[in-house]
Amino acid sequence: MTQDDLKKMAAEAALDYIESGTVIGIGTGSTANHFIDALAGIKHRIDGTVASSDASAERLAGHGIPVLDLNSVNEISLYVDGADESTRHLHLIKGGGGALTREKIVAANSRRFVCIADDSKLVDVLGAFPLPIEVIPMARSYVARELVKHGGRPVYRDGFVTDNGNVILDVHDLQIMDPVKMEEELNNITGVVTVGIFAKRPADVLVLGSKNGVQILT
Ligand code: 5RP
Repeated sequence: MTQDDLKKMAAEAALDYIESGTVIGIGTGSTANHFIDALAGIKHRIDGTVASSDASAERLAGHGIPVLDLNSVNEISLYVDGADESTRHLHLIKGGGGALTREKIVAANSRRFVCIADDSKLVDVLGAFPLPIEVIPMARSYVARELVKHGGRPVYRDGFVTDNGNVILDVHDLQIMDPVKMEEELNNITGVVTVGIFAKRPADVLVLGSKNGVQILT
């Protein structure tokens, strides 16, 4: 089985968490794409979706699944998205695809967050995956210097612009022992829009695709 098969397995298992007649939040990335494709088969059961990126909105629309503006939605019952890393406490690193800000907004608005991933994403300590941080373009050098003071090695994601018109710094060499504290500290650097640690609002459920089948962590 390939890593992509395991992503698909996790994505399809997440359909079980859908409550009929509600709005579903949709993440971004290859695992979220599998979820979108699976959702197409039961689209008549939901009221619509809120997308965390232009790319996901386009894929949803391609399947004829309604995409709603978050400002017109009262409640999102469920948010389904992938991750770059997850601990057993369901603290995540996200943003490999650069959609972290809208992902965090949709997650914050959702009653339940189900994270879907292949089992290679499960780690003991966050930080081997370089931490994505969305930054206002004019603050890039300042934020990079501040990140060095926090022990990180920021690398500019050259040529990449987020859906919000900002840039991404990928921060290497961090060992994130206290994700809640680190999320708060890095988010407080002036010029940072969003840090890709999802710990203040972690996932509620982690659905992992593995060669032994689907594993659920709560
Ligand atoms: C995008 C993300 C993705 O969820 C993360 O990068 C995982 O991607 P994939 O499902 O392709 O492995 O945070 O910003």
